[in-house]
Amino acid sequence: MQKNATASINTAANAGGMPAAGRLNWSTRMAFILAATGSAVGLGNIWKFPYITGENGGGAFVLLYLFCIALIGIPLLIAEVMIGRRGKHSPPDAMKALAKEAGVSRHWSLVGWVGVITGFLLLSFYLVVAGWAVSYIFTAGTGAFHGASGDEIGAMFGGLVGDPVATTVWGSVVLLITSAIVIKGVKQGLERAVTTMMPGLLVLLLVLVGYAMTTGHFAEGVNFMFNPDFSKLTGTSVLVALGHAFFSLSLAGGGMMTYGSYLGKDVSLGKTVLTIGVLDTLVALIAGLAIFPIVFANNLEPGAGPGLIFVTLPIAFGQMPMGQVVGLLFFIMLSFAALTSAISLMEPAVSFLTEKKGYSRLKAGSMTAAGIWVLSLGSVFSFNIWQDHTLYGKTFFDVLDYLTSSWIMPLSGLAMAVFTGWVMKKTSTKEELPNGMTHTLWRFLIRYITPVGILAVFLNAIGVMG
Ligand code: PHE
Repeated sequence: MQKNATASINTAANAGGMPAAGRLNWSTRMAFILAATGSAVGLGNIWKFPYITGENGGGAFVLLYLFCIALIGIPLLIAEVMIGRRGKHSPPDAMKALAKEAGVSRHWSLVGWVGVITGFLLLSFYLVVAGWAVSYIFTAGTGAFHGASGDEIGAMFGGLVGDPVATTVWGSVVLLITSAIVIKGVKQGLERAVTTMMPGLLVLLLVLVGYAMTTGHFAEGVNFMFNPDFSKLTGTSVLVALGHAFFSLSLAGGGMMTYGSYLGKDVSLGKTVLTIGVLDTLVALIAGLAIFPIVFANNLEPGAGPGLIFVTLPIAFGQMPMGQVVGLLFFIMLSFAALTSAISLMEPAVSFLTEKKGYSRLKAGSMTAAGIWVLSLGSVFSFNIWQDHTLYGKTFFDVLDYLTSSWIMPLSGLAMAVFTGWVMKKTSTKEELPNGMTHTLWRFLIRYITPVGILAVFLNAIGVMG
């Protein structure tokens, strides 16, 4: 394996690089950008960002999040894709190959392992929420939101998540579609899904912002999101903001490293990653601008939690002209956005099993899916039969989300920053980022700012929690 890994680093240094036998490869630079954007833009932007912004008091949290994206997220996304592209293997072996190249312990492969496992854990709850979105395609399509009051719409959502059988079925549908695409090979289908659905989603979000402007509470929504009140921040909010920068950019979940491993040398990492980061952030901010005015116009609670978009947006669909069609299209596109992210959460495990154990994609995909399905039941039950089984007030779903986003991903990000900034040779990283200025700036951020930022957030959180 080691020998193999080094060999492909060498070949990869030739123009475009020869893929190791059986590896997928992106046909064009655009294909990678689309897949990576598809991974980044998902439920994180539209479902999670607004609800955690609501829970953490608005403006100050948003500002902190933007800092985390710019100073920690973007440099780390460059680092993660770089590791994948230079390592040319699934995450654990890509790390191992680069550790060997740098002459350090092969145990650095642990970082890759953590990525694969994190992707697995994340997908187990991600697919549950994606299942809610898919089921809302039908709720919206039948016109159920039309003329319904906020309370009635709240009760619809409560009815859905309170039903363990229905939510298991919807989650399983998402998992089946995700596995089918991953088994077939991520390239086909992904490109088309992203090119048609992503712009569509953006347009619909803007339509929703347009509606939000008519509610008479738009200014209140903007004020909530952009007028920082730092007294509302706690150590935990800071940790949540950092964790969400990771979640939203698909960092440290193995996906970006794996996609990077299918990428040729001709692509400019800096520009590509910046594009992805800006798009991802824009979608989140636009989603917030659509949602908060509706929250205030209907006297809803911004901190209502994971149900926020499933209650606010249907109110809008119920009231706006053509709301039935807009709602239907919105949930279709949201489901696609979730799907392209789910694919990137599953791909690392499948890529690892095919490469390391020699399994077919069918076998690797089926095994991964079976494991994820079992684990997903814990998240399904967190909203019904297990809702009172909590640990420090957190359900299984909350614990999984909190552990992965707020702790595992930032820690693994810290390790990636140290690895690419301090362990990898400067000549190696320079080869990956040939533009002198980009390399200098990136190297400064990844060596000093990114790790110190992550550590500061942790220390703050521990201080407050202790
Ligand atoms: N970034 C995705 C989203 O915002 C979620 C994700 C996290 C995907 C980690 C891959 C890896 O929905």
